[in-house]
Amino acid sequence: MGGRDATMVLLDENGIRCDGRKVDEPRRIMIKAGGLKNADGSAYIEFGDNKILVGVFGPRDVHPKHMSNTDTGILRVRYHMEPFSVGERKNPAPSRREIEISKVIKEALEPAVMLEKFPRTAVDVFIEVLQADGGTRCAALSAASVALADAGIPMRDMVAACASGKVADTIVLDVNNEEDQAGQADMPIGYMPSLEKITLLQLDGVLTPEEYKKCVDVGVQGCKIVYDIQKKALKDKYFGKGDD
Ligand code: CDP
Repeated sequence: MGGRDATMVLLDENGIRCDGRKVDEPRRIMIKAGGLKNADGSAYIEFGDNKILVGVFGPRDVHPKHMSNTDTGILRVRYHMEPFSVGERKNPAPSRREIEISKVIKEALEPAVMLEKFPRTAVDVFIEVLQADGGTRCAALSAASVALADAGIPMRDMVAACASGKVADTIVLDVNNEEDQAGQADMPIGYMPSLEKITLLQLDGVLTPEEYKKCVDVGVQGCKIVYDIQKKALKDKYFGKGDD
């Protein structure tokens, strides 16, 4: 947290946020299923100004072999930011942050993916952040779910993700980059709407127990909005555009 621009108005007297949104309004979300010829499944997401491409490979043989599991398949996730994806060029070497985000996305996807159907194999998820603007882990997780479905990997549900947070003492949906930097709390949530199960919940900042509950509720509502867009992306690819 920590104010980057102390003069910026995060929430005006009419309840409008610094990017013109209402407190319960997500940024513009567009998801496209498929697109990468050489991947088994893929997806592209634009979430506000975030632009992220995901390729899924597998189930396939595991190398080195000793990393495989005779009882179940394994999921491997690599979240990678292009050096040009942020204002100040990012060092191309994997950062601690990218390693952490790879781990949390993997753990958020594992409850959804039926890995037990593919013993001794691996499913690889490669996430390329082309442009970052706050909330990339949620956008990447949502796109990864669509890419896994596009690859035909059996899943219990898709994981939809969205962050909520606290800005100017108010709980808001889908924290943007400015709000993340200057706001009071940021809570990324991953949720399987059909199963009503949360698979990712992180909190940066301080909330009262009441605010915490409200943040979870608001974030889950955001995930449900994302879920509809994920389903539409798959329908558009497999049943053609036109209907809902
Ligand atoms: O992206 P997400 O909100 O999931 O993760 P974060 O660690 O809270 O990063 C918030 C934002 O900081 C990112 O989305 C980027 O826009 C920005 N960032 C950056 O400008 N330079 C970096 N090396 C890493 C992140």
